[in-house]
Amino acid sequence: MLDRIEKLRADILEESGNIKSTDLLEQFRIKFLSRKGLLNDLFEEFKTIDKTEKAKVGKSLNDLKNFAQNIFDEKKIQLTKSKEEKKSVTDYTLPGRTYNIGTKHLITQALEEITSIFERIGFKVYDGFEIEDEYHNFDALNTPDYHPSRDMQDTFYLESKGKDKRYLLRTHTSPGQIRVMEQQQPPVRVIVPGKCYRNEAISSRSLAVFHQVEALYVDTNVTFRELKGTLDYFAKEFFGKDLKTRMRPDYFPFTEPSAEVDVECYLCKGKGCRICKYSGWLEILGCGMVDPNVFDIVGYDSEKYTGYAFGMGIERTLMIKHGIPDIRMFYENDIRFLKQFK
Ligand code: PHE
Repeated sequence: MLDRIEKLRADILEESGNIKSTDLLEQFRIKFLSRKGLLNDLFEEFKTIDKTEKAKVGKSLNDLKNFAQNIFDEKKIQLTKSKEEKKSVTDYTLPGRTYNIGTKHLITQALEEITSIFERIGFKVYDGFEIEDEYHNFDALNTPDYHPSRDMQDTFYLESKGKDKRYLLRTHTSPGQIRVMEQQQPPVRVIVPGKCYRNEAISSRSLAVFHQVEALYVDTNVTFRELKGTLDYFAKEFFGKDLKTRMRPDYFPFTEPSAEVDVECYLCKGKGCRICKYSGWLEILGCGMVDPNVFDIVGYDSEKYTGYAFGMGIERTLMIKHGIPDIRMFYENDIRFLKQFK
């Protein structure tokens, strides 16, 4: 019988290691300590053994019982303690956890602001296509076959095998002009905001993807003066009231005459600084009067109607407005950069 007592001691010791919850503790109690438990079985048997052995066996048996009871008591204390500890983990006096709440990206914010500036003076928004065909991106914009912007290096052409047209990622928002004019007769007053793609070498000033906002206004008697006035209005609204604008002659295949617009440097107010390369001026968009050839292509009466158009680079405009030194910062999604523009 002494052997069986030692065996049970080993079992109790082994099982005591597994008591990790009050349920397991209860199972332990039932198995070893309860009235129908294994210890009690031994005590029943103890009654039947030879008197000469009783003193010795009785002592071991009592030791074993105390051993099991101690384990039970100790585990019980441990378990209730850890339960209480768990309960008190929440300290309601601590300040609450704060979460980073996302905001609209700087570019989205700018597109919305620019859209609202033009909506106030009667422009409607037209969503162009990012995937365009060669016709809308070039031909219909009076861009001849030999024009360098058609070169494979500047344009991402798409696999167009088996298709009747050659497709590409639009290189500017100007094809939006053609799409609008194909769909409606003058008067037309729209802006086309969106992404454009060019196969550029990546640097602090250019990326293969960027945003533009295109504007087109066609009616009878639209003049260059109105174009100038509209751009002045925009610059004042977007950059602040006392910023001057100026125009320089330029060339685009789809406008005649054409111009570039400069804005007085936002940072130095025209005095000259690093951002404006000490000229006091920064270039933000291309514009001009719609070339009559374009009207002929879309079927507008070029004798009756005139119009102006412009296309503005958004990243460029924002770099100027906020003094952002590298265009790549817009797309790195560094929260320290983004959260400055809430
Ligand atoms: N599409 C021209 C560009 O991307 C800008 C432009 C738009 C010029 C409309 C004139 C009129 O550079």
